[in-house]
Amino acid sequence: MTVAAELNIVTGAFSFTGKYITRRLLAGDKQVKTLTGHPLRQNPFEGKVEAVGFHFDRPATLTANLKGASTLYNTYWIRFEHAQATFERTLEQTRILLRCAAKAGVGHIVHFSSIHADARSALPYFRAKGLAEQLVEESGIPCTILRPTLMFGLESSFCNNLAWMLRKFPMFAVAGSGRYSIQPVFVDDVAELAVRAGRNRQLLNTDVAGPEVFTFDALVKLLARKIGCRARLMHVSPRRALKMVALINDMVNDVVLTADEIRGMMENLIVSDAPPLGHTLFSDWLDKNAEALGIKYYSELKYHFC
Ligand SMILES: NC(=O)c1ccc[n+]([C@@H]2O[C@H](COP(=O)([O-])OP(=O)(O)OC[C@H]3O[C@@H](n4cnc5c(N)ncnc54)[C@H](OP(=O)(O)O)[C@@H]3O)[C@@H](O)[C@H]2O)c1
Repeated sequence: MTVAAELNIVTGAFSFTGKYITRRLLAGDKQVKTLTGHPLRQNPFEGKVEAVGFHFDRPATLTANLKGASTLYNTYWIRFEHAQATFERTLEQTRILLRCAAKAGVGHIVHFSSIHADARSALPYFRAKGLAEQLVEESGIPCTILRPTLMFGLESSFCNNLAWMLRKFPMFAVAGSGRYSIQPVFVDDVAELAVRAGRNRQLLNTDVAGPEVFTFDALVKLLARKIGCRARLMHVSPRRALKMVALINDMVNDVVLTADEIRGMMENLIVSDAPPLGHTLFSDWLDKNAEALGIKYYSELKYHFC
């Protein structure tokens, strides 16, 4: 008699973090289903992953789609508000997802939050992420909450688009002094931790940061050196930086950086006080991957909204 593989559900298995989690789950002989806004998008797992829509507006369908799952890996979130995609709506969708997961009997949830998520934050992104954590904790489903810093990987829009700007322009504008800290973590290290937490049903709420802390200036200079470009840094006020970002936004039809992200970095919110759980060095990773970064601009607006 063959025993059916344990079913895990991953939101966004064809997108960034979800893809790394899925790869690891499949390697561990789990069955994976994904909830996604793009179920018809090319399936990078050769048909091994069933894809269904989120169906937040049809809770009975969503509940049926979650039935039988031992673990839900929830990456669902928006990076910035656009058109009808607001943080408030995303919170409501998260509430629906959790309610349906509880109804469907999902045994454990591994939820992706963010470093310095805080329901009292003055910054909308961090505040909404904090409120989402509360929803997860109140859902009644045993949970792991992971709070990554900035995740790097080939598909990271931040790393790729930073490299693209460095390749494209002779000058690179940095908001403020550039001396604030940033502690990137490799996406696959986070996926490894997530899958371990899901497998062991760990009840955990933890920051997930990488082993290296850079000033923002140092990170940009390192990236520029590794991709072999000579763009010069200039320091401008945050307001000026946002104006320049707005010009690039128009050029690439995207949201390159948000005011929250600039303020978050400047307030040292992309760095953790806890011991790092990631082990991959950004600098080592760049040695192997810099050539592939920033060749083409990656538009999140196009990816998520078209
Ligand atoms: N990337 C980072 O550096 C970082 C840092 C800290 C925390 N986080 C958190 O980690 C989680 C995963 O992040 P990620 O960068 O890997 O995200 P992602 O793969 O781009 O997206 C994760 C999920 O959210 C959906 N989604 C994203 N933007 C959307 C939009 N505008 N409208 C509708 N659906 C949208 C995606 O839908 P599709 O399946 O249709 O693509 C996917 O299911 C998120 O909760 C994020 O807040 C990320």
